Amino acid sequence: MRDRFSRMIDYLRISVTDKCNLRCIYCMPADGVLPVRHTDILRYEEIIRIASAAARLGVRKIRLTGGEPLIRRNLPFLISSLRKIEGIEDISLTTNGTLLGQHAKTLASAGLNRVNISVDSLRSRRYGEITRGGRLDAVLMGIQAAEEAGLSPLKINMVPVRGINEDEILDFARITIDTERHVRFIECMPAGSANFWEPEKYITTDEIRNTIETLGTLLPIKVRKNGPSKYFRFHGASGVIGFISALTHHYCEDCNRLRLTADGMLRPCLFSETEIDIRSAIRAGAPDKEIERLLELSIAVKPQGHMLGSISSLSSCVSPHVVKRPMSRIGG
Ligand code: 5AD
Ligand code: SF4
Repeated sequence: MRDRFSRMIDYLRISVTDKCNLRCIYCMPADGVLPVRHTDILRYEEIIRIASAAARLGVRKIRLTGGEPLIRRNLPFLISSLRKIEGIEDISLTTNGTLLGQHAKTLASAGLNRVNISVDSLRSRRYGEITRGGRLDAVLMGIQAAEEAGLSPLKINMVPVRGINEDEILDFARITIDTERHVRFIECMPAGSANFWEPEKYITTDEIRNTIETLGTLLPIKVRKNGPSKYFRFHGASGVIGFISALTHHYCEDCNRLRLTADGMLRPCLFSETEIDIRSAIRAGAPDKEIERLLELSIAVKPQGHMLGSISSLSSCVSPHVVKRPMSRIGG
């Protein structure tokens, strides 16, 4: 399936819940966002129908996100059902890792291929502060359990924020020297209800990269075309360093994805408020052909790119909170 700009769309990100057991400072407000009504959240059968239609149109990879996907009950059932869909080759999960210790094995047996784990600090106290109560030891156990269950390569996502954790960029980069883990640095995005983003806190990929290169030169590596990340490694290192520069580098030309929000909206672009209500269609009894048509429509309206990256002087121009839905409702 190609869009108007010849981008191959073969990747569907599915948010299975907008809720999370953590409240990371850049993602969630300190106390509750208005929860989506339970009945508005897609049921597993509905997700499976949409994913099947997407696979018939050429989607090959699925990522489950949240919120925190592991707080939704019976996730292995969803994974094993997605696994049975013809055409689906790869299923991955983005998680904060706190519950992986208990679930990794079951998830792997259900057919999960890989996990991305979000960790923004390797210091317990600080981790607790950033996540407002999360426990680092649970995450570290989760990482180990995931690797033991064969969920590899294991990817660690870190969002560097000035004044919070930028002094740990090198510690994270070092992980890749003697483990096969991938560490990916994600630019903090102005998003959602956390009201957190400010130009002063924001660290660009170029700056992160310069910091890392004080350890050694980063050699670019070719990874099978895989969306917006750029990958590197230190000479002789086992692991991989990646950068996801939502704001400063135009990655839109490589965008290969569609998003399905937990409440059943197709979202063609993270940075556009355009959404297509596929839940209402399904609940009104739409046949498979209609579901395919809505998926095609959302690809047809996928914008060429967002305007954030084309603004040369970010700090003075980008207005904060440009993405109105909290990231926990879109699925990152
Ligand atoms: N900016 C950048 N990354 C974010 N995430 C959540 N909110 C933001 C934000 N405002 C990340 C999480 C996780 C992924 C799902 O999205 O850290 O790695
Ligand atoms: Fe939860 Fe992830 Fe948001 Fe943190 S960033 S509050 S772990 S959804």
